Amino acid sequence: MRVIPEPSLQERTSLRLGGKALAEVWMDEDQDWERLPDLLQHYGGKPLILGHGSNVLASDTDLPVVVIRQPRAPSEFSRHSDGRGEALVQGGQTLAGLLVECRRRGLSGLEGLIGIPGTIGGAVAMNAGSYGCSFGERLRGVEVWTAEHGLFWIEAEQLRTGYRFFDPGLGKRFWAATRVKLDLQAGRPETMQSRMREVYCRKKATQPLLAPTCGCVFKNPDPSVSAGRLLDSCGMKGFRVGEMGFSERHANFLINYGQGRSADALELIAIARERCREYSGFELELEVKCLQA
Ligand code: EPU
Repeated sequence: MRVIPEPSLQERTSLRLGGKALAEVWMDEDQDWERLPDLLQHYGGKPLILGHGSNVLASDTDLPVVVIRQPRAPSEFSRHSDGRGEALVQGGQTLAGLLVECRRRGLSGLEGLIGIPGTIGGAVAMNAGSYGCSFGERLRGVEVWTAEHGLFWIEAEQLRTGYRFFDPGLGKRFWAATRVKLDLQAGRPETMQSRMREVYCRKKATQPLLAPTCGCVFKNPDPSVSAGRLLDSCGMKGFRVGEMGFSERHANFLINYGQGRSADALELIAIARERCREYSGFELELEVKCLQA
């Protein structure tokens, strides 16, 4: 276990916003989880799994949280005689890293997720999805940690997943996804590569993939209604407050143009919601997690 005092959330979130947390704790081995409750008590803050910080809007004021980090570690793969396979993946592994490993082994099913900048823990918790592919539909099971029960596995039948929704059935208590088991199909590496290239190019053409953003800010209000299209129609594309603004490429992405502030981002969110409600009658729900004191 390694502990870094007062880490900057601005440096740890893709939107580049945020004050300091109380501490950052690296869970280098399974035994470290046993020490976590004492450490949390010592710092007096709530635990926060940040992953890549790519779906987070953190307040510029300091937050009473302890950031929990899981290191990247190699995944384990096994293959059945019919070519299908199974992957055992660590929560701290990146989605991009997993996709590379899967392509090399010809294990298919996650290619549509290319370009999502997150960790496996984050992909589980958000049920990451794009281009007809969702992480949840590949899950065979998730290993979680809770303060009450330590590390334990929950099988797929006990998990509830939906559009950007994941519920391991643990109520309101804190949990962390530490490992996942995935069901994958047999695929040809060349076919998988060309699918990933195609998806990535489409995303790069329609989304500000390389800018400091937090992904889509709002959920789509309906499977057939794009929040981005609604926001575009009511004039939010390119709309700025201070150095924060909605992207010119896709109106559901907030961009930090340099020295943006969380107050500006929250003001933009309020304006966007109000305009969308007036214009279309849809109440937009946040996809991004707002971290406030
Ligand atoms: N559109 C506009 N203006 C905009 C944005 C979109 O007119 O500013 C139009 C597009 O031209 C297209 C339609 O709206 O005709 C849908 O756009 P897009 O294909 O970009 O899909 P989306 O529904 O806006 C969703 C996900 C994305 C995911 C893409 C591709 C949500 C909130 N967004 O966007 O996920 O990458 O589909 O599958 O579910 C994310 O969740 O962070 C995210 C980026």
